Amino acid sequence: MTGEGIVLRPMETGDLLAVGALENDLFTEPWPASIFEREIADRQGSWTVVGLRDDRIVCYAVVWLGAAELHIANLAVAADEQRRGVGGWLLDRALARGREAGCLYATLEVRVSNERAIRLYEKKGFRAVAMQHGYYVDNGEDALVMWADLIPALGEEQDGLV
Ligand SMILES: CC(C)(COP(=O)(O)OP(=O)(O)OC[C@H]1O[C@@H](n2cnc3c(N)ncnc32)[C@H](O)[C@@H]1OP(=O)(O)O)[C@@H](O)C(=O)NCCC(=O)NCCS
Repeated sequence: MTGEGIVLRPMETGDLLAVGALENDLFTEPWPASIFEREIADRQGSWTVVGLRDDRIVCYAVVWLGAAELHIANLAVAADEQRRGVGGWLLDRALARGREAGCLYATLEVRVSNERAIRLYEKKGFRAVAMQHGYYVDNGEDALVMWADLIPALGEEQDGLV
């Protein structure tokens, strides 16, 4: 399964109760509503979306779009929707949005203990490039910094051109 049956749309202030409940459920250091409000207001620099299945929010993402860099700031899938391809689908959509916006590469930070997310990111072409020691305030955990190209390397995806 992927994003089949899920409708993606920009996050709105009216979503914040539901997003906050998921955030509390899924993260040990949940973002406060004020951060989501700031992202919702920044329609230019931030791709902040929710995915709904049957009118219920089942996933969301906050992605910063810079001139060259796309940064995955938040990506989450409701516990009962996980491991069905929704996270991979949402990440693909985010990377496609970045390519559309002209971003050349994507970055993110992830807890070193978050093996599920690290596997997902590796599967989508990210690789670990650095470590931020003591990055997470709640338990002082290190963050793995991951990086992915958004443009094909020279010679790739050029079938038929030779
Ligand atoms: C990380 C997260 C977004 C993945 O979403 P998901 O919908 O479960 O991911 P997918 O079903 O698309 O899985 C894609 C790949 O991720 C990896 N993966 C996902 N869940 C996994 C698990 N429980 N164990 C091992 N690998 C896992 C696998 O490589 C999987 O591919 P596969 O199913 O072909 O083996 C989701 O687990 C989540 O919301 N976690 C809590 C919030 C979070 O940690 N967000 C990331 C912050 S950086």
